[in-house]
Amino acid sequence: MKNLRTPIKVIIDTDPGVDDAFAILYALNRPEFEVLGITSIFGNAGIDLCTRNALALLELAGRTDIPVARGLANPLGKSLAEWEEIRQRFPRGAMNVHGDNGLGGAELPEPQVQPIDLPAMDFILETVKRYPGEIVLVPLGRLTNVAAAIIKDRATMEKLAGICLMGGTVRAPGNSTAVAEANIYGDPDAADLVMTLDVPKVMVGLDVTMKAIFHEADTQRLKSFNTKQGNFLVECSRHYDAFYRHHNPHLDGFSIHDVLPFTYLLHPELFEVKDAYVRVETRGRFTTGQTVADLRAFAKDKPNCTVCLDVDHRAVIEDFLETMSKSK
Ligand code: RIB
Ligand code: CA
Repeated sequence: MKNLRTPIKVIIDTDPGVDDAFAILYALNRPEFEVLGITSIFGNAGIDLCTRNALALLELAGRTDIPVARGLANPLGKSLAEWEEIRQRFPRGAMNVHGDNGLGGAELPEPQVQPIDLPAMDFILETVKRYPGEIVLVPLGRLTNVAAAIIKDRATMEKLAGICLMGGTVRAPGNSTAVAEANIYGDPDAADLVMTLDVPKVMVGLDVTMKAIFHEADTQRLKSFNTKQGNFLVECSRHYDAFYRHHNPHLDGFSIHDVLPFTYLLHPELFEVKDAYVRVETRGRFTTGQTVADLRAFAKDKPNCTVCLDVDHRAVIEDFLETMSKSK
C-alpha cells in the first residue's frame, strides 16, 4: 500500500469488542487518519450490540459526525439460527472474551445518534465511489460485509487504495482452533473471497498481534493520563485482561490485536513483512479458517497479500500510549 496521502481516508469495519475499542479510539486520536465511517459486523457480540457499541464509542470521543452503518448479522451462506448453533459450539465463546455487552461490562450511555439508513456494504460501496483510489478499508472483524460488497460490485471494490485487516495467522497458533484466527474462522468463505480482490492487502494477524501485549504497567500508565477515553479503556479491559490471564498466563497481559493495522499504516517500518499468495481453507476437516500463505521461495502464484510476520511490539504499545496521552 504505497503513496497514501495523509490524512489517510479510512473506513473501519468492526465488531466492538474491547480491542476494537482500543483501535477505534487510537484511530480517532491520530490526525493522520480521516475516519469516513464505521461499519459494524457481528463477532465479539451480536450485530445489535456491536452497532450500539460503535455509536457509543463515537459519542465518548465526541465524534458523532462520523456515520455508523449497520452490517450483517451472520456469516455468508449461513442463517442466524445456524450461526447461533455454531456460537454454542465455539470452543471459547467470544461473548466470554469481551463480556456480555462486548465491552467487558463497562457501561457507556445509550447513544443518542442512530445508524445511518444504509447497510454497511452499500455505505462502503458509495464511499469508495466518492473517493476512488483513496480509501483504505480497515476490517477488524469477520470479513462478511467486505465480501458482500465484493459480491455486489467487485469493480467498485477494486477502487479501494487497499485493505489492511486484522485477522489470520501464518506461523503463530490459532485462537479459535489450533490453526484458525477468530475473524477468519468466523466466516472463512468471506475471508477467502476477500483474498481474491485485486487491491493491495495487508494481513495483520496473530503472528504480530499476539506479541503486542498490554501489561499491567501499561494499564497503569493509561490510567495516569486520567482522560475520559483512557479511563474507559482501562475499565473495559479488566474482564478481557482476566480472560487472557486465565487462558494465556505466560503473556502477563492482553493483546490489543485491532490497534495493529492502524500502527502498520502509520509505521510500517516497525513490521517485518513478506508478500505471499494467501488463500483461506473453507472446507478442511481440521483446518477450516486457516490462512494458507505460500512462503516458499519457488511459490508459483503471484503474491496477493503482504503478511506481517514480526513486529517491534514494545514500539507499538509505546505509540499507542503516547497517542492516548493526548486524548480527551
Ligand atoms: O482474533 C482477534 C480478533 O477477534 C480481534 O479482532 C478481536 O476483536 C476479535 O474480533
Ligand atoms: Ca475485532
